Amino acid sequence: MSQHLQAIYDTRVAEGLLRPDPAQREVLLLLEELREKLEDRPAKPSGFLGRFFKPVVPEGVRGLYLWGGVGRGKSMLMDLFFAHAGIARKRRVHFHAFMQEIQSGLHEARKSGVDDALKPVAEAVIRDVSLLCFDEMQVTDITDAMIVGRLFEMLFEAGVVIVTTSNRPPEDLYKDGLNRQLFLPFIDILNTKLEVHEITSLTDYRQHRLEGERTYFAPANAESRQAIDELWRDLTGGKSEELVLEVKGREVHLPRYWAGMARAEFWDLCGQPLGPADYLALVGAVKLLVLENVPRLDSSKFNEAKRFVTLIDSLYEARTRLIMSAEEEPERLYLEGAGSFEFERTASRLREMQSADWGSE
Ligand SMILES: Nc1ncnc2c1ncn2[C@@H]1O[C@H](COP(=O)(O)OP(=O)(O)O)[C@@H](O)[C@H]1O
Ligand SMILES: [Mg+2]
Repeated sequence: MSQHLQAIYDTRVAEGLLRPDPAQREVLLLLEELREKLEDRPAKPSGFLGRFFKPVVPEGVRGLYLWGGVGRGKSMLMDLFFAHAGIARKRRVHFHAFMQEIQSGLHEARKSGVDDALKPVAEAVIRDVSLLCFDEMQVTDITDAMIVGRLFEMLFEAGVVIVTTSNRPPEDLYKDGLNRQLFLPFIDILNTKLEVHEITSLTDYRQHRLEGERTYFAPANAESRQAIDELWRDLTGGKSEELVLEVKGREVHLPRYWAGMARAEFWDLCGQPLGPADYLALVGAVKLLVLENVPRLDSSKFNEAKRFVTLIDSLYEARTRLIMSAEEEPERLYLEGAGSFEFERTASRLREMQSADWGSE
């Protein structure tokens, strides 16, 4: 029997990697219980029969819907569980990325003219996994909202166990969404099939980690890069994955994304033809943005500067955390040319966003 999740957690606390938090330990108890049940599978019959053996999760194992405020450690706890779940057919995926896969699968299936396109798509998922861990479940898109109910029904029917994190309780998913009444059965499914647990921890650890840390680096030199590398490593544990945001049929790629945090270069976000809708989608997906190598701006970079202002406004309004490196301090970033006067507001916002309590709820 492998080590209890709480014991692994306690070791990290003892090593100074984590602060002890009773609300997190409480979650680990639920996850440990689940882990033990998942491991409790019938042994694979040996010999000839073994070839027909499909590993199944025991019936009636309830997954977990873990929700609560940002930075409470939901992703960290789920990752700990996932890493130690003794089950081969497991997958951890950002919910948004998963739904994108489903949507493109549906698109393909429809081309082949099947009656019920969702069926083969769900079957393909079921073939590969018995445990699905979703990070950051949220539903904002009507096309997702209209299929998740049936999709999850099929997954649960096949005995797939789901563990998911979310910033809100099931009842608040797709809140104020179009045709919401068609979405309500999904909420019922989540409530019956998953144990819903709120993590009541009072600390926003992401905020905590940044406390007293510099978040604005000028000039953007090798030293700044190194300091940001260290912060990023501390925040993500050195992990990242690509997140693709779909905006009005376009794709915005965030190559370095992890647990609500993204890292990008100025030119990735402001040197491309992106607009307010893209930045809105970005702040919808990201609680913390690392933006590197912002150059000195002037009228020769009019479009880039305009996009930068829009980006900062979006981040500001969503109270997104910003770590930034730039050629100059905010007040000296844009001194000449059309738009430099309006930039004063952006500079002041950049200052305000450096304050210690920025982004806390
Ligand atoms: N008990 C803790 N002590 C120290 N850091 C923690 C603790 N719990 C979480 N963190 C760190 O705080 C940050 C936010 O945690 P995360 O799991 O991403 O939060 P959430 O998913 O709830 O938004 C991560 O860098 C994580 O490693
Ligand atoms: Mg998270």
